[in-house]
Amino acid sequence: MTTQSTTAPRTMTWVGGADGYLRLIDQTKLPVEFVELECRSVEDVWQAIKQLSVRGAPAIGVAAAYGTVIGLQSAVGGTADEFDARRREVTDYLASSRPTAVNLFWALNRLNRLAETLGDLTPTQQLDRLLEEARAIEDEDREMCAAIGRHGAELLKDGTGVLTHCNAGGLATAGDGTALAVIFAAAAQGKTLQVFADETRPLLQGARLTTWELQQRGVPATLICDSMAGWAMKEGRIQAVITGADRIAANGDAANKIGTYSVALLAKAHGIPFYVAAPSSTFDLELPTGADIPIEQRDPAEVTHGFGRQTAPEGIGVYNPAFDVTPAELIEAIVTEHGLIRPVTTEQIAATLAAGASA
Ligand code: MRU
Repeated sequence: MTTQSTTAPRTMTWVGGADGYLRLIDQTKLPVEFVELECRSVEDVWQAIKQLSVRGAPAIGVAAAYGTVIGLQSAVGGTADEFDARRREVTDYLASSRPTAVNLFWALNRLNRLAETLGDLTPTQQLDRLLEEARAIEDEDREMCAAIGRHGAELLKDGTGVLTHCNAGGLATAGDGTALAVIFAAAAQGKTLQVFADETRPLLQGARLTTWELQQRGVPATLICDSMAGWAMKEGRIQAVITGADRIAANGDAANKIGTYSVALLAKAHGIPFYVAAPSSTFDLELPTGADIPIEQRDPAEVTHGFGRQTAPEGIGVYNPAFDVTPAELIEAIVTEHGLIRPVTTEQIAATLAAGASA
């Protein structure tokens, strides 16, 4: 179901108690229309993630946590075993929506691990507890964004031209974003920044979402086509690059929106620091390197018929990976909620995350 709104609510909001539903901004409609979706079934949540109504690694994790609660609402009248079986079915189903952003699996695993300790409770009590946990995931995400902003702001000096790719802003999280949180925090310190937003073909998250967010927050922004980034660097317009990430391997190789790797190479060629901003929930320490990060392949029509208009001949072969992997050696620093990881090495990552987890 769809409703129109004139106010600017959060990326997503849980409405009601354990029998409630998830309301989220339909990001496929921005910036032209502000429309919210009401997800009242687990299929609604799956579809919202798949079609990118809700997107961005941390936001996908939060949506999946609430989606689990929605999927379990129909099981509270059954036995504890039936509730358990339904939970596994629901989390497996949500896990099948998109493969790359590890925050999705992180959130689902967190709920499953918790549920496994709740055997003494009735299904109704378990559902209440799972909703509490989903809310905690959302609240913690908001705090992580704020901390990333605080730690990263020092990287952007007054007068910096900063390039970002895709959307790693509030729309991609429950808070202020990751890469954009750094920009917002630096701007809040009174620094004058000129943000360049890559358009981000084929789905234009940079053009549609990042520039919209920057405009709303009053941060000067300039939109460029992806192919202009190298020239803008050559002309001296850009002094730093910062992006988000969807999954970071133990050695720091970072998957992010397709095109990020090219931007990192361009930054290297021009001697410009390339930064990644991401919460600890985006790290996948089970993968030693980025070589095993699963890369989502999306519908060829996104390339040939973007936004409804045919731009390529019928029948043309298309390759449409949604993400690429930037090797750690191209990343100057990773900004996390626990501080900066610099240099980006397996040891430094392990030490920062372990210290943060025990703090
Ligand atoms: O396909 P999307 O729009 O979900 O891709 C999003 C990105 O690549 C973001 O940069 C990433 O998830 C980080 S969001 C804080």
